[in-house]
Amino acid sequence: MIYKVENNTKLNGTIKINGSKNASLAIVVGAILAKDIVILNNVPNITDIHDLLDILRYLNCKVDYNDHILKIDGRNVVYKDLRIDKIKKLRASYYFMGAFLALFEKVNICKPGGCNFQNRPIDIHLNGFEKMGAKIIETDNEVCISCDNHLKARQINLSFPSVGATINLILASVLLEDTTVLRNVATEPEIVDFIMFLKKMGANIDGEGTKTIIIHKNNRLHGCTYTIMPDRIECGTYLIYGAALAKKLTITNIISRQVRSLLSIFIEMGIHMEIRENEITIYETNNLKPVKIVTGPYPSFPTDLQQVICPLLLKADGQSMIIDTIYSKRISHIEELKKLNANVKIVDNFMLIDKSDKLIANTIKCNDLRGGAGMLLACLMSKGVSYLTSAELIERGYQDIVLNLSSLGVHIERIIDNEKI
Ligand code: EPZ
Repeated sequence: MIYKVENNTKLNGTIKINGSKNASLAIVVGAILAKDIVILNNVPNITDIHDLLDILRYLNCKVDYNDHILKIDGRNVVYKDLRIDKIKKLRASYYFMGAFLALFEKVNICKPGGCNFQNRPIDIHLNGFEKMGAKIIETDNEVCISCDNHLKARQINLSFPSVGATINLILASVLLEDTTVLRNVATEPEIVDFIMFLKKMGANIDGEGTKTIIIHKNNRLHGCTYTIMPDRIECGTYLIYGAALAKKLTITNIISRQVRSLLSIFIEMGIHMEIRENEITIYETNNLKPVKIVTGPYPSFPTDLQQVICPLLLKADGQSMIIDTIYSKRISHIEELKKLNANVKIVDNFMLIDKSDKLIANTIKCNDLRGGAGMLLACLMSKGVSYLTSAELIERGYQDIVLNLSSLGVHIERIIDNEKI
């Protein structure tokens, strides 16, 4: 898919943020542990969710998704081989490892796909399962996990606070007969939301949002109704679009404290804004100051926003720098930006961004979801008509982005047929 983009106006209006993609992906898989009926509100209508629901149907779950309300009936969930193509399509499919170990004490699964901006190992997940007594056979594309004896509750120290490994080990542990302690876990809000959901299903867990999580023994899970938290990365993305292009843009249905690291950068840059608990308004600002951004685990600046903010830094008076300590090779957007006449370069692992106030439209490519969101902003900042290819990657994580931008005054068109450009 291609987006044809031209922008001659300042963005003006209001955007309502959807439910969190990454929290939903974990919660949807977690729902099968109840073997009961779970109703989830505020589930975003994005392709990653639809791909996950296809896998649930394959496992004999009944799934009904309408108007952001998802009903999962997992009463008849069955064990199946997960060496299937759907698993390769998305990253979050690795949560079936933890969920299947909890339900069936075994899983044969393809390695996850999703945004492959660089090699994304899953050794911390697998080491954790091994410590719980699982036997692992790993090839380049597949993982087979089984237990000679039952899975055991353990005390596990993660070598790095990985979001996915933290959730996977909670999934694997939540039904065990003894207490599990996980240390050096990730503290991202999506993990807190996931644990709040498990608690609603009856789990007894302590420590969410801290570095140590205790999963108490003998949890008996049951169905529930749960509302997914707002998407802080979608929120951050539109805030950045606003900082670059708005006359006045209000972002609603958010939890402002979850984007504190971005707001600190905005304050350093001198961006005019009004911050309320669940709503932020961004006003047109000139004379932006350059900044240095270093990504890190929450509450540091998120890796998922560094590619998005990169074009905004082209407006600052001087040289800015981005260092992504989480994914140092998440840099393919830099080459695309050069095609728009941007003054950007990579020195070692530093992205250096100099003021470039004459961006010229061109055809550029989305290489991954967040990189795509950044390139869309860059196109909007360029003079003329740009074509953004592989734009379907953006729709993996941003619901209605074309409609939203159109409502703010942008000329943007989805072209399904590549030959039309
Ligand atoms: C989650 O990925 C998100 N995905 C990513 O969002 C996000 O970029 C990332 O967390 C970091 O915040 C989902 O929630 C589905 P990690 P995840 O394990 O869990 C290293 C998006 O655009 N590591 O926290 O896979 C890893 O290489 C996506 O929405 C290991 O070395 O990330 C990285 O350097 C993209 N071994 C760091 O840890 C492991 O076993 C953090 O990765 C696991 C991770």
